[in-house]
Amino acid sequence: MLKKYEIGTITTKLKFRVQIQFSYIYLKPNYHLNTMISIVGAGRVGSSAAFNILRFRVSDVVLIDIVENLAKGEALDMMQAAPAIEFDGRIRGTSNFSEMKGSEIVIITAGEARKPGMTRIDLMNKNAKIVKSIVKEVVRYAPNCKLMVVTNPVDIMTYIAYKESGFERNRVFGMGNILDTLRFRSYIAMELNVSREDVRAIVIGEHGDSMVPLVNYASVSGIPITNLLKKEQIETIVNLTKTSGSDVIDLKGSTTYAPAVVIAIMVDAVLRGRNREIGVSTYLQGEYGFSDVSIGVPCILGKDGVEKILELELDKEAKRGFEEAVTILKDAIRKIAE
Ligand code: LAC
Repeated sequence: MLKKYEIGTITTKLKFRVQIQFSYIYLKPNYHLNTMISIVGAGRVGSSAAFNILRFRVSDVVLIDIVENLAKGEALDMMQAAPAIEFDGRIRGTSNFSEMKGSEIVIITAGEARKPGMTRIDLMNKNAKIVKSIVKEVVRYAPNCKLMVVTNPVDIMTYIAYKESGFERNRVFGMGNILDTLRFRSYIAMELNVSREDVRAIVIGEHGDSMVPLVNYASVSGIPITNLLKKEQIETIVNLTKTSGSDVIDLKGSTTYAPAVVIAIMVDAVLRGRNREIGVSTYLQGEYGFSDVSIGVPCILGKDGVEKILELELDKEAKRGFEEAVTILKDAIRKIAE
C-alpha cells in the first residue's frame, strides 16, 4: 500500500529528476553510469545493441567476438561516433573473453542466425553448443554478472544458460517477449492511428511461432483494445505480430534495429534498477503451473535481474496457447539432451 510519506519521496525524486538534462524520452538521463557490460557476438544484433547502449549513455561496453578484427573494427567505428553523441564511456572490441571481468551484465548474441524459411528452433543444436561454451567463459570471468541471452531459439538457450551457469534463476534471462510486445504495440498503433507511446500490451510464451499475444491485456492508455477494434482487426494484428520477425527476415535477411534497441532497454532497466515490467524468458518453478522450462512471462526487471515474476490470470485460449508453447519447448529441450 502506498503511504503518505512514500508519495513525498516520489515528489522529491521528481524534483531531482527535473534538474537532470533529459535527452531521450525512453532511456532517460543524459549521463552514463560508469558501469561495464559485455556483449558476446559482434554481429548485426550485438554491435547494434552496443551502439544503442552507448547512444543512450547507459554503460561502458566490451564487445567480444571470436573474429577479433570484427569486434575491434565495430568498437573503433563506434568510438569515432562518440564525440557526436557526447558519450564519455568506453567501448572496446576484443576476442579475449577474460576482458569481460567486472561486467555487471553479459549479453550473449553469438550464434547462427535465422535464414529465410527457418524457424528459431531450427537453430537449436548448433547454437546450444556455442552458448554452452560461452557460458563456461562467463562463469570463469564474470561469475557475479546477470546473464542475458539473445541467441535463438532464445527460450531454449536461456534454459541451457541457466543450467550450465549454475547461477540463481533471477540472474539468467532471455530477450524475447519484450520484442514481440513492441511489434504487437506497433501494429495496434498503426491500425488505430494513435501514438505508439500510449499503446500497452503483453505477449507471453515462446519467442517463436507459438507466442501468445494477450488481447485482453492490450490497451490504449488503459482503454482495452477490445473496445476500440473489431474482432477481425484484432485477429489480423495478432497474426502479424506472430510473423513479424520472419517478415523482416524474408525481406532483408535478418532483424537488427528492434532487437538491438530492446537489449538496451533491458540493460538500462537492470543497471539503473528501474523495476520495469518487461516480458523476458525466465526459468519457471511452478509459476503458471509449470516447472523446469524457460519461457516468456511478464517480469519486473531491476538491479538483481528478474526481481519478480508476474502471474496473470489467463483466459482459456491464452492458457491453451501457453501450454502448447511449454510442450514445444520441453520437447525441443529433450531432443538436445538426447
Ligand atoms: C527477432 C529475433 C531476434 O525476433 O528473434 O527479431
